[in-house]
Parts: sequence; C-alpha cells; structure tokens
Amino acid sequence: MSKLKIAIFLSGRGSNFEAILKNIETKSLDAKIECVVSNNPNAAGLNIASTYNIPTYTFSPKKFKNTEEYEEAILSKLSNHPIDLIVCAGYMKLIGPTLLNAFTNKIINIHPSLLPSFKGLNAQKQALEYGVKLSGCTVHFVDSSLDGGAIIRQVSVDVKEGDTEETLSKRILKQEHIVYSNVIQLFAKGHITIKNRNIIIN
Ligand code: GRF
Repeated sequence: MSKLKIAIFLSGRGSNFEAILKNIETKSLDAKIECVVSNNPNAAGLNIASTYNIPTYTFSPKKFKNTEEYEEAILSKLSNHPIDLIVCAGYMKLIGPTLLNAFTNKIINIHPSLLPSFKGLNAQKQALEYGVKLSGCTVHFVDSSLDGGAIIRQVSVDVKEGDTEETLSKRILKQEHIVYSNVIQLFAKGHITIKNRNIIIN
C-alpha cells in the first residue's frame, strides 16, 4: 500500500508536526509529508520543515481580498502535490468553504481539550478557570464550525491541584504527540469511516 500523502497546516511552534515526522522516521506511521502550509512567515514549524527538506508555502491572509482568494492560492500550491489528507497542527485560522469543498472529509485538526468543552483559543486556560478535573485532547474532522467537526479520537488527562496553564498544556501536549499520529495511521490504513457525526473505526 502506498504512503498517505499529507499537507501540514501550521501557524506556530510545530511540535505536533515534529512528532509526526519522528513517527514517520521510526516507521510507526506510513505517511509522507508532501509540504507545509503556513499563514505565519515566522512560524518556528517552518524551520523544522527546512531541516527535513520539506517544501513550505507561506501566505499572508491580509494580502488577499478575502478567504476565498487566500485559499485558492493555497490550493494552487497544493495541486503540485498528491495530497490525501490535510493535517492542521496549530493552524490558527478557520478553514473556509474553498478548502473544505476541495478536501471534503480530508482535513483533520487536534484541539487541546475534550470537545465540545473549551473550543477556541486558550483551551487549557479555559479548562483551569472552569475547574474541571479532567481535560485532554481531541482529534476531529474539520468542518465549517470552530472546533465542531466529527470527533475521531479523544484522550483524557487529569487536571492536578496546583496546575498552571503551562503544566496542564505540557501534560496534554505529550498525549497530542501520540494520538495524532495514531489517528493519521488509522486514516492511512482506511480504518476511519465517517457517518454524519459518528466516526466508526474498524
Ligand atoms: C496544540 O496544543 C494543538 O492542540 C493546538 O495548537 C497547539 C499547536 O502546538 N491546535 P504545536 O505548534 O504543534 O507545538
């Protein structure tokens, strides 16, 4: 079976991207990262891509008239590659209809909370402020809503007394680095079926 061809979308540090790269290197993930797309020219994740000689495409959304034109520019670069799956890894921009229509059920995201709790920014801070005893991370398909697409897999993490945003984020991130590659591998092997909001893993 040929490798799953991935485009990574990121805006920042890229630790999830790096974890995926490492899992590909150690052959626990049958995938190939074709390219990295970023809306932030200063994203540290772009340096990781350069280290691995992975093509990067950076776009400034502000330079485009609207999201449609921005995403059409992304699509024209993606068309240079045989992309099976878009993996959002800290991509801090809502995906619009242009990309969603071109990659229906082929865009996934990871979010640092147990969705549907604590959508949006600073999910770990939201969880601490709310006072939950369990948080975690969620891998989900991307749809037009904010962090609202069908849930593929979740991992729970204890919230401990005295946790700060930093300590909780670190504990969750450790799990993110494992579960994201696991889900991508399931996708690569065709084990994920989407039926409305219900994901069946076989
Ligand atoms: C992660 O916490 C992820 O869940 C969220 O953004 C963060 C990205 O971190 N969507 P990194 O850039 O992968 O280190």
